[in-house]
Amino acid sequence: MRYFFQLSASVIYQRIVKPILFKCSPDAVHDAMVRFAEFSGKNAPLRGFVDYSMKYDNAILAQKLDRFGGLEFTNPFGLGAGFDKNALTSVPIEGIGLSFATFGSTTARECQGNARPWFHRLPEYKSLMVNAGLANRGVDKVSKTVEEAYLRTIGKGSKFNVGLSIARTNDAFAADDTEGISDYATSLSKIAGKCAFVEVNISCPNTFKGEPFVDPKRLDMLLTTLDNVKRESDFPVTLKMPSDKTWDEFKALLDVIVKHNVQAVTIANLRKDRNGMDIDPTWKGNLSGKPTENTANNLIKQTYKEYGDKLLIFGLGGVFNAADAYEKILCGASLVEIVTVLMFKGPAIVPLMKRDLAKLLKRDGYSNISEAIGKGV
Ligand SMILES: Cc1cc2nc3c(=O)[nH]c(=O)nc-3n(C[C@H](O)[C@H](O)[C@H](O)COP(=O)(O)O)c2cc1C
Repeated sequence: MRYFFQLSASVIYQRIVKPILFKCSPDAVHDAMVRFAEFSGKNAPLRGFVDYSMKYDNAILAQKLDRFGGLEFTNPFGLGAGFDKNALTSVPIEGIGLSFATFGSTTARECQGNARPWFHRLPEYKSLMVNAGLANRGVDKVSKTVEEAYLRTIGKGSKFNVGLSIARTNDAFAADDTEGISDYATSLSKIAGKCAFVEVNISCPNTFKGEPFVDPKRLDMLLTTLDNVKRESDFPVTLKMPSDKTWDEFKALLDVIVKHNVQAVTIANLRKDRNGMDIDPTWKGNLSGKPTENTANNLIKQTYKEYGDKLLIFGLGGVFNAADAYEKILCGASLVEIVTVLMFKGPAIVPLMKRDLAKLLKRDGYSNISEAIGKGV
């Protein structure tokens, strides 16, 4: 019965709702989706309906990650950073069956972001062009909503893991590296202990200061400072990695990361390269979705091969169905994040992907997802 509802909801979204939404401006639709999700979380009957109708649990998908603060994950799927920068939608994100959320990216100061439009749709590439520039309410406000969400999950004994991505403020006050490092340190100190984990985003390509910490020496300075920010010894941190790097460049960053108090890497951020793609050259921004998939998978595979004993991997980029997620797991990802697919296929895709992934794992003779991680390497 539930399966039939989930399948119908997904078909209705893709055949009826999406064509209407895709006629409206992507900025307006994104804002409306977040507002609707926030409203649904506050409306008890709607919340109950979502929780009931989207439910799908299967022990084959559940794992406890001892190397990531001992956190338990009921399934490998979580929300990637950027969908909800202000952490307003924790209730419905849990309700649709994701096991964790990476809210943010938030920054030390409130940030207006780049000039609109922030988004362009590229349906032919199953992609969004993103140029939001880290617009968010700032860590003082966002840490409050994140902490509320975190305490709510703890209060009801839920295994949903509330995480927060922190980035450097993208505004006119951004100065030298020292100022940038203190921006990250301020955010980490305000959020450590108030959520399940933190993702440090060093690779946002849409800021006017660029990505100064995607450089081994500067990254070492940043992580040395973050090591000294007071937090529980088992409070886990993951680092959001760039996608447009050669393996040698990427490896140089990993060599720095493993020397610090970082438990995982999130691979990878948006793609900058538009080569071979027919995209309006006046559009500003970088690519999500399918164009990110191959690069991310290759980087995940290499990272697992050479650093799998030291770092856990959160994999994301172009996951549109269970087979895509399974591919990332076989490449070495312990967890899989999604963003763009929610806009292209709607929220019911989450339980459907969980069902299909459980079938794929069973088909290949695994009794738990943890046995499949890295098996394609
Ligand atoms: C609308 C949107 C906003 C994003 N904002 C952020 C962000 O604030 N911080 C970040 O680390 N990544 C951000 N990203 C990148 C995603 O987290 C992810 O790395 C990328 O989109 C690939 O995953 P996907 O194919 O599932 O979308 C954003 C992506 C999208 C689509």
